[in-house]
Amino acid sequence: YTVDYDISAAEKGGYDYFMMKEIKEQPAALRTCIGSRIHDGDIRLDKIRLTDDQIRNIGRIHIVACGSAWHAGIVGKYVIEELTRIPVEVDLASEFRYRRPILRRNDLCITISQSGETADTLAALREAKANDVHVLSIVNAVGSSIARESDDVLYTMAGPEIAVATTKGYSTQLAVLYLIALKFGEIRQTIAPATAAKLLTALEALPDQLESLFADEDALKALAKQHADKNNVFVIGRGIDYGASLESSLKLKEISYVHSEAYAAGELKHGTISLIEEGTLVVAVATQDQLYEKLVSNVKEVKARGAYVVAIVKEGCTDVEGVADKVFYIPQTEDIFTSTLTVVPMQLFAYYTAIERGCDVDKPRNLAKSVTVE
Ligand code: G6P
Repeated sequence: YTVDYDISAAEKGGYDYFMMKEIKEQPAALRTCIGSRIHDGDIRLDKIRLTDDQIRNIGRIHIVACGSAWHAGIVGKYVIEELTRIPVEVDLASEFRYRRPILRRNDLCITISQSGETADTLAALREAKANDVHVLSIVNAVGSSIARESDDVLYTMAGPEIAVATTKGYSTQLAVLYLIALKFGEIRQTIAPATAAKLLTALEALPDQLESLFADEDALKALAKQHADKNNVFVIGRGIDYGASLESSLKLKEISYVHSEAYAAGELKHGTISLIEEGTLVVAVATQDQLYEKLVSNVKEVKARGAYVVAIVKEGCTDVEGVADKVFYIPQTEDIFTSTLTVVPMQLFAYYTAIERGCDVDKPRNLAKSVTVE
């Protein structure tokens, strides 16, 4: 008597692909990443060496990373600048390492890397250290090269990520950036205590809110089926939504080989709008209260040129139903935290588009999980 036992299916926890398993692990990963750092309403950033005095004196922050980690950095820039008023530059590691960046001693370099082994990011870190700049890294792989060579490490605690296209790695990177922004803002007194408490409550709600988005899985699967033959997709947003659009767009490119471009919605009129024709798929991410009306106008512009528009907005913004063809809602949260939620429908959409197109979701052609050579 034997029992059929498929080791690879067991590793995938019953899912067809690691990517889906990892998408579904995001709520738990966020609970660990955020929950373990909040104690009685206070954020504790592990045991970092960076002192409160150093934090008060930071002149500029340089965020350096590649791929999705760089996308997390772009969202991080908006959040850190908003909460701390420290100027933040975001660089691609492959550019930073060769452009003689201007680094001052009271600057802080934040490198972000899931694997902790990306060659360009490691070289950028060494460049920062050679200039006596303190390096704080956001890393998933414990004991990796980037973790070992940094002055401080904040682990994302997402657990092993196998699928080449990152999901839980990215969302936990965002969470650590939020924690840094809140903590630095508190130390530099750029956030009022009442606001800080409100933001902390919103941060702690994110894992459950992310989980609630899985309810749209069937609708996203149907949408993917409907649009699987599209070869051009545009993802538009403003502010933080533009940052999240970059990541959403990359997911489609990586695993479904659909040409997709993320565009800052205000830039559409400077070129991209000429590419919109009958049936072009446009995903509009519009979660920022201050920019919402402007984005709705952009949706009207692309609709008028024949686009099929999928909108991702906050609960309650139902008026967009009169403009877009399909609307997905994310739960109410603070504007600075929406990227954690808006990216999830797009992870699922990219996944099902890849399935429809017969792609190998976990091992896309030409890509590697960790790029350890230049
Ligand atoms: C590769 C992966 C991407 C990842 C990037 C940076 O290109 O396919 O998913 O975002 O490397 O990797 P890191 O490990 O440094 O976050």
